[in-house]
Amino acid sequence: MKTTEILCITLSLLTNLNPAPADQEKKHVQLYHAEDDVQILDIDNFKTQVENKSHAWLVEFYMGWCGNCQRFAPSWKALATDIFNWKDLVQVGAVACSDEINSPLCREYEIVHYPAVKYFHENYQTIPQDLGVFVHNITEGISSLRHHVIDRIVTEINEGRGVMYPNLLPYTHSDVSRLFDSVPSTIQYIFLVVQAPQSYLGAEVALDLHKTLGIAIRYAFNNHSGLVNNLPIDKFPGVVVLDRNNSIHVLPGVINDIKQLKSAIAIFLSDKGIKIFEEIPSKTKNPTNKPTPDPKQKARTLLKQRIQKMGDVVFQMDLESAVRYSLKLEIANIKIIQDEQLKALVAYLGVVEKYFPFGHNASSFLKELIDFTHNVGQIEGWKIGEIVKRAEENRVFSSPQRFLACEGSLSRYRGYPCSLWKLFHYLTVNAVQEENPKEILDVMHGYVKFFFACAVCSQHFQEMAARRNMSDVASLDSAILWLWEAHNEVNERLAGDLTEDPEFPKRQFPTNEACPRCVNLDNSWNSEEVLKYLKNMYGSFNVRYIGSDTKVLFPGLE
Ligand SMILES: Cc1cc2nc3c(=O)[nH]c(=O)nc-3n(C[C@H](O)[C@H](O)[C@H](O)COP(=O)(O)OP(=O)(O)OC[C@H]3O[C@@H](n4cnc5c(N)ncnc54)[C@H](O)[C@@H]3O)c2cc1C
Ligand SMILES: *[C@@H]1O[C@H](CO)[C@@H](O)[C@H](O)[C@H]1NC(C)=O
Ligand SMILES: *[C@@H]1O[C@H](CO)[C@@H](O)[C@H](O)[C@H]1NC(C)=O
Ligand SMILES: *[C@@H]1O[C@H](CO)[C@@H](O)[C@H](O)[C@H]1NC(C)=O
Ligand SMILES: *[C@@H]1O[C@H](CO)[C@@H](O)[C@H](O)[C@H]1NC(C)=O
Ligand SMILES: *[C@@H]1O[C@H](CO)[C@@H](O)[C@H](O)[C@H]1NC(C)=O
Ligand SMILES: *[C@@H]1O[C@H](CO)[C@@H](O)[C@H](O)[C@H]1NC(C)=O
Repeated sequence: MKTTEILCITLSLLTNLNPAPADQEKKHVQLYHAEDDVQILDIDNFKTQVENKSHAWLVEFYMGWCGNCQRFAPSWKALATDIFNWKDLVQVGAVACSDEINSPLCREYEIVHYPAVKYFHENYQTIPQDLGVFVHNITEGISSLRHHVIDRIVTEINEGRGVMYPNLLPYTHSDVSRLFDSVPSTIQYIFLVVQAPQSYLGAEVALDLHKTLGIAIRYAFNNHSGLVNNLPIDKFPGVVVLDRNNSIHVLPGVINDIKQLKSAIAIFLSDKGIKIFEEIPSKTKNPTNKPTPDPKQKARTLLKQRIQKMGDVVFQMDLESAVRYSLKLEIANIKIIQDEQLKALVAYLGVVEKYFPFGHNASSFLKELIDFTHNVGQIEGWKIGEIVKRAEENRVFSSPQRFLACEGSLSRYRGYPCSLWKLFHYLTVNAVQEENPKEILDVMHGYVKFFFACAVCSQHFQEMAARRNMSDVASLDSAILWLWEAHNEVNERLAGDLTEDPEFPKRQFPTNEACPRCVNLDNSWNSEEVLKYLKNMYGSFNVRYIGSDTKVLFPGLE
């Protein structure tokens, strides 16, 4: 680092500085609010809400900044509304793991990648051998979510739990005479839905109408010929109704989906004086208050304009926030770090120690981190969080834990993932180990694989590393360019996505305005010029200090 340059830049930026967000406000993004049917769980209420209950829980754990969590939230809200009527059986909640206060909770239930959904059975108690069961493949939309939930419930029933659920197992006897065998005497009518084996119709309606008195709903598969041949139906799905006298009626009406089936049942029952019971969530809940006007809005806008005018530059505040966030909310959220994961952590800390533009007070912090992770079989994540918190008290960091160039126009945009990209670009540009040119890329790969909370991002990145031959990178310069190209691929994929900040559209980087020379006449990249551009932008000599206390970084400067 050239001190003279630092001095110039520092002084020029500090004059007339609007001393940015010195307040340590927490900018964590809530994806769910009081007016949603999703119940908000947190470190204070989780155990009282979830343990020792007669119903089960489906809990989503999320990070507010994670694009996939944002894309998933509408489905989760829709599910909560949709199965509101099952609430005496299973309830729907969400925990914001991006809120530091909930870290111990997310760590305890061993959540690493987000969004994650766990099922907690009835009468649940937290014990190490039972931390809830992950519900996989959850990011798909409401009807498939319902099906995943039913699969989970059926597994529960098969494993001897879930006694509060209606019978959701297929009827397997060859005639209908056994249907009334094991139901309470209050049941007057049983609806037997005969459906294709892959259909969920019977189970879904059984759950939706489980509170209707006097009836039960069962289903059987249409490939069960012994049974089907004895029933007066020939198209599927088809439904027969049995009464206590074992007389069979075909349920009239068109029955192809849940809605039609429920309405056919309602019509049949209305004759008998039975009303179907389904509780619809009240839509009258008041939306939470509008965001209160921000008194600092004007100063913020000015600062933002100023930062945008500076173009493609890197701020100390964003880099520091990336490292702090990664240590405190990703690494510290892992209960036990060992094996490959521990190797990835040691490697990450190693390059942070070597190349991160820490201030003057950081050496004991880094030594503590390195000593703590070296030559041990395993570590507990929360202890890393404690080391960082101590460093914060000891003024190792020069800035508040906020984002500057990575601040989005709304709190749900940009933030941490933006800063993480910048951190790794910075590291590739400032790495010097010629003999190990892939050092940073390998570290990033390990970090993203084992710690990056955004599950889809992590998968995409690993897939991209393989497809783009990351392991063939043979020089420090090609490592810089490899990451640049990879990032551009992600930008292209996400352009126009709902997670895109309208004020910061995802474009190919660098833009033509920022670097006209980076593009050849035929529109191809001029990689030499791109390399120059990246080396300049991410060079350690070019880090900017708006919002940072330069006394922490360079105590000699006063
Ligand atoms: C490893 C990784 C994988 C991700 N995968 C996904 C995913 O699969 N799905 C998803 O929804 N989100 C993913 N994200 C998040 C997403 O890429 C963005 O980080 C997020 O949407 C915030 O976008 P942003 O507008 O702040 O710009 P970002 O893309 O985060 O970029 C941050 C800054 O880096 C600079 N920059 C941009 N492009 C380049 C480049 N090519 N070379 C050098 N510098 C550049 C610019 O200054 C930009 O402002 C991933 C993030 C990371 C770190
Ligand atoms: C649930 O019950 C168990 C056993 O009685 C008890 O140890 C635990 O504290 C209870 N949990 C809550 C939140 O009350
Ligand atoms: C998730 O879905 C994919 C594709 O549909 C499937 O291959 C995979 O086995 C599923 N995983 C689980 C755990 O169900
Ligand atoms: C009907 O289909 C189900 C699900 O595919 C299968 O488990 C079952 O064995 C089949 N039954 C008959 C009688 O073929
Ligand atoms: C069963 O049969 C008896 C006598 O035929 C009749 O009175 C009664 O209503 C029937 N019950 C039902 C549920 O149809
Ligand atoms: C940080 O540096 C300042 C100035 O050199 C010093 O007074 C202070 O004790 C240092 N703090 C720690 C924790 O080392
Ligand atoms: C990766 O390597 C393979 C085999 O050498 C090659 O065919 C392919 O084009 C390379 N892909 C990229 C993106 O460089």
